[in-house]
Amino acid sequence: MVGNSTSKALRASLMTWYETDGRDLPWRAPRGRHGDPYGVWLSEIMLQQTTVATVGPYFNNFLARWPGVHDLAAASLDDVLHAWQGLGYYARARNLHRCAGLVSRDLDGVFPDSEDALRALPGIGPYTAAAIAAIAFGRASTPVDGNIERVMARLRGVKTPLPAAKPELMEHAKRLTPDHGAGDHVQALMDLGATVCTPRRPSCGRCPWRADCAARAAGMAETLPAKTPKPARPTRRGVAFWAERPDGAVLLRRRPEKGLLGGMMEVPSTAWRAESWTDAAAAAEAPFVADWRRLPGVVGHTFTHFHLELEIMAARGDYQAGTDDVWCAPDRFGEFALPTVMKKIVRHAQTRDG
Ligand code: ADE
Repeated sequence: MVGNSTSKALRASLMTWYETDGRDLPWRAPRGRHGDPYGVWLSEIMLQQTTVATVGPYFNNFLARWPGVHDLAAASLDDVLHAWQGLGYYARARNLHRCAGLVSRDLDGVFPDSEDALRALPGIGPYTAAAIAAIAFGRASTPVDGNIERVMARLRGVKTPLPAAKPELMEHAKRLTPDHGAGDHVQALMDLGATVCTPRRPSCGRCPWRADCAARAAGMAETLPAKTPKPARPTRRGVAFWAERPDGAVLLRRRPEKGLLGGMMEVPSTAWRAESWTDAAAAAEAPFVADWRRLPGVVGHTFTHFHLELEIMAARGDYQAGTDDVWCAPDRFGEFALPTVMKKIVRHAQTRDG
């Protein structure tokens, strides 16, 4: 057994380190104090799949614009999606808005203070519920993300590869969680994982647990946690339709509420599939009949689970837009929350030759 610190001693050395080396982040309360639940919730939703550095300005902007949960609930979904632009994974913004509505209307603006009740709200999974319960309410909850899994795998020398090791790593993290003051403890762990116990070239010399770390003692700090290799991302292919009306307006469409980029505006396209599209097969899925011509080049975009290659077919025409589509002058695209892949299509279509 490496080192012989008890959980209590490990917590104490982590707290000492956090006092001096923890990060000052916009949503953090002073050490020893609970964060404001609205700000904690907002930051935790933003931090799902997004880095601390990216989130900072968005968090400040949201708080300035919508200082409390009633303000956010009263905002239009489009305004929220627009302010979210650039954070990606827009389902989070839709759930954020739904959750604000629910807390504002049904709970009098008061966030529930237990992990279970938090989990029942839209957009709040097990990690986020545990993080909010600990940080905003001081509950003895244990949020475990990839950073904390890495810290636990190294501290305890767990060689089982991820994801199989998850339950074991969760158990180790739980055993360390204090009954009181869990908010500072979990944020300290997050900081340790982000700034010291990094995936590559960890700074073991600066680690409060350097004498206790099983991986370090075995010379394995950088090789843990082990990972089962992921299957390669598949490629999907589609054709996007750049439809220009005689007055220069371009056709945009709202995507279905459910699924990838749910409810976001898009340049209409065929389905996205493994097989490539012939001109005729693509034109059969076009929003209206016209002389659709393929533009040179391909727009590539990588999502979490697949890589997308879109070609573009352009045509001039007109038709009566329905409820889910809109003709929009390109200089007004900024009024919609266009996802990154759609911005790439716009750029590609606008810079084509001729
Ligand atoms: N990642 C997720 N939640 C976080 C938080 N509260 N502080 C720092 N990093 C985080």
